[in-house]
Amino acid sequence: MGFNRRELLKLGALAGGGLLLPVGLAQRTWAKDIYEGGNFPQDPIAEPIDPPPPFQVKLPIPPVLQPTRRDATTDYYTIVQQEANQQIIPGLPPTRIWGYNGIYPGPTIIAQKNRLVNVSQVNRLPDPVSTHLHGQSTLHTYDGYPVDLIQPGQSQIYKYPNLNLATTMWYHDHALHMTSTHLYRGLTGLYILRDEVEAQLPIPKTYGVDDIPLVIADRLFAPDGQLIYEVQGNQGVAGNIFLVNGAPMPRMEVGTKKYRFRVLNGSDLLAHHYRLSTGDPFIMIGTDTALMPRPQTVESFRIGAAERYEFIIDFSKYPVGTQVVLQNIWDDIGDPTPIMRFDVVRQEADTTTIPSVLRPDVQRIMEQEFIPANAVRTRKFEWGRRNGLWAINGLVWDTQRVDATPTNGDIEIWELYNKAGGWWHPIHIHLIINGFKILDRNGKPPFPYERGLKDTAFIGQNEHVRVIGRWAPYTGRFVFHCHNAYHEDHDMMSQFEVIPSRTFTPPTVPNFP
Ligand code: C2O
Ligand code: CU
Ligand code: CU
Repeated sequence: MGFNRRELLKLGALAGGGLLLPVGLAQRTWAKDIYEGGNFPQDPIAEPIDPPPPFQVKLPIPPVLQPTRRDATTDYYTIVQQEANQQIIPGLPPTRIWGYNGIYPGPTIIAQKNRLVNVSQVNRLPDPVSTHLHGQSTLHTYDGYPVDLIQPGQSQIYKYPNLNLATTMWYHDHALHMTSTHLYRGLTGLYILRDEVEAQLPIPKTYGVDDIPLVIADRLFAPDGQLIYEVQGNQGVAGNIFLVNGAPMPRMEVGTKKYRFRVLNGSDLLAHHYRLSTGDPFIMIGTDTALMPRPQTVESFRIGAAERYEFIIDFSKYPVGTQVVLQNIWDDIGDPTPIMRFDVVRQEADTTTIPSVLRPDVQRIMEQEFIPANAVRTRKFEWGRRNGLWAINGLVWDTQRVDATPTNGDIEIWELYNKAGGWWHPIHIHLIINGFKILDRNGKPPFPYERGLKDTAFIGQNEHVRVIGRWAPYTGRFVFHCHNAYHEDHDMMSQFEVIPSRTFTPPTVPNFP
């Protein structure tokens, strides 16, 4: 159980046609040393440990962050970014992490649509940072632009209007050329946006009780419990140990009722493919930026870095004593690998139901707004390799260059191509209100679980997708990039600049205090 180093190498060999270097040649560094003025030292270190026995640890739930103050329009928060020691692998010393408030994952912010949130981010780390709230449409100034850095010892205020639909967002580091290592060390937290439509739905919605966040990320650990940052063949880090909310392959006790899960793939490189050990389906109810128009039942689903999905598992059909394992079956690995286990431990009444139509408003956006007839133009972006770097249309990040200039409010189609085997790219577009819709994947309808609004589109080996969305509501420069963080850092990122429109009225933008 668990995939070991040999299988990881096999994964690389199968997925990448020999992309993974022999271990001695891979860049393997202690996570604590990984950033030194842009250099990644290559001193080899300990061999990563094999996964510990699964299901020893109880699933932790990231705590809800309390505001330091509230007023009529706004909730105010303070987050301190700092190094800390966190007990992660049972029996090994604590792991040095970088965390929001010193924990991984960071505390969860729960916000309400149209109510403002103001976060003061304090940097007590040795590196500059930039904090992005992924999934939120906000002004350039508050978007965590990669060169808009908070220097060590400084702080910065980020203001979020919460114009978006209820969904799972996440805040994470976005510092230019340091995002991969910063995320790897733990700078990740969830931000849950709620709204009135969701509040009316009879689905589970009590955070930490029947509405459960799952930040799933693979990592490598050394025998002394420290993170190993080992880049394989310029791809990124492929871990052999799954952490769920910071715990290795944990277990969760559940009653005989429906639970809602919000999953984020917080990995550096690996996409995961989830199934349940029982073969029973997931009832998918949400994609990156909203609940879906209707639930979709699937036996398995693929999730790339930064993607979020919401699903329901109905435990009411299982007798007490049943164990259900969430497994990874990523294409060529072979045997399913355990990620976590649900233990059905008690009888419980279920008061929730899953309506066959979840969000008519999302349905309207998808069926009436985000349709090719409304698109004013199409742009094409090819994601690939160039001179040892990762590139978009052959170009790498340049702070001065802008690769698209949509007018505020324009609906555009973006065609995203991965013309190679051997690697995959989860493509993320900042800003765009309500995200985008995947029109098609390889010329065919998107997977059932992708039939919702998203901000990150996975393009697997030799795949292409067409996405359609509205470039709004703010003008200015915003990035789009591959969310394999190592690809993003080297240097698969670009930006668009939204220019003012004479005709489009953006949704009412609140006055920030
Ligand atoms: Cu999740 Cu540009 O980031
Ligand atoms: Cu984002
Ligand atoms: Cu990529």
